[in-house]
Amino acid sequence: MMDLTEEEVSMLDGEHGTGVQKAMEILNVLGKIYNAERMVEIKSAQVSGVSYKNLGDAGLEFLGDLAGKGARVRITTTLNPAGMDLRDWKRMGISREFAEKQLRVIGTFRRMGVEITCTCTPYLAGNLPEYGEHIAWSESSAVSYANSVIGARTNRESGISALAAAMTGRTPSYGYHLDENRLANCVIDVRCSLKNTADFCSLGYIIGKRIGNRIPYFRGIKKASNDQLKALGAAMAASGAIALYHIEGITPEAIRSDMISENPEEIVIDSLKDGYGALNSGVEKIDLVAIGCPHVSLEEIQRIVNLIDNRKLKTELWVMTSRNVEGLAAKDGLVEKIENSGARIISDTCIIVAPVEDLGFKTIATNSGKTAFYAPSYCNVKVRFGSLEKCIRAALTGVWIE
Ligand code: F3S
Repeated sequence: MMDLTEEEVSMLDGEHGTGVQKAMEILNVLGKIYNAERMVEIKSAQVSGVSYKNLGDAGLEFLGDLAGKGARVRITTTLNPAGMDLRDWKRMGISREFAEKQLRVIGTFRRMGVEITCTCTPYLAGNLPEYGEHIAWSESSAVSYANSVIGARTNRESGISALAAAMTGRTPSYGYHLDENRLANCVIDVRCSLKNTADFCSLGYIIGKRIGNRIPYFRGIKKASNDQLKALGAAMAASGAIALYHIEGITPEAIRSDMISENPEEIVIDSLKDGYGALNSGVEKIDLVAIGCPHVSLEEIQRIVNLIDNRKLKTELWVMTSRNVEGLAAKDGLVEKIENSGARIISDTCIIVAPVEDLGFKTIATNSGKTAFYAPSYCNVKVRFGSLEKCIRAALTGVWIE
């Protein structure tokens, strides 16, 4: 049995309404499954399962029912990407039928008090936790970033459990909320150099595949930008289920000398070849270049603008980001430069959760390990995976050049 506070018991008894009661029932069951002793108060929630592509009519009905019961969030709660750019969906080629359903999903979340951020990088869009803070996030790449790069504490929630946590302000205290479960149990000795984001993704793919959901402690990585760390975490969460990693001298908890458990498995990585091989098909003609999985930061947009260098593109290029970062980029004149080249800033969504398989693209290029991992099955396309420079060159020429 979990040791619940008086307020938590009253939520369970329905004194705060049937929506909160349902939410507390879900959390209570979860807590029992994972042997949590109590609930922990959380500062924010991040809810996945927003795209109508994934939710379908059953999910839309479930959300409507919950909102109809008066369910409202009581802490900062942000949303994962939806299935389309909420303003510019027509230009994406999204059907009216899909758009109407997607807008109903968004309206339902809005009624519950959720902030309509629609991004997998909430930490770049106003939902930035502090070190040691307890949160309940569900997007796997954001979970990895929050745990590893920020040092906040979250399990890899489902959309439903994150929403339940948002409505009660609590989550069961188990897993990554507890000190003892944050120790690394694999030491990864990286002996090859990591030159760009695609290299970090390739490493992430190899490690996720190899260690599943364990916690790696990397040695030998000399430096990494926050954008490279978000890409590494996303790739490891995709090919495996890694929700927390440490990098010696770089991530905040790795400054403690006791962050490695006894007798960890030791793995040496001296080549990234296997990652590049697994994430690449041999196609040459590229229909779409997709950058921004996870959503790009302002710095990444600046880099794309520099690489395009006022030239016109031959192939469609999507730069996927949050509405928030798009706003910052617009102020700096970067959106105009992107659009002048023929590329597009796509906000609120991404290639994986949008109904891309209906838009006629057969081949894509990307520098994201996560997109390269999921796109063949989720979007029915063939993928070329490599550095941002190669991706932009593909956008400029229409073909992939190794
Ligand atoms: Fe984000 Fe979509 Fe990639 S949600 S991490 S851009 S699959």
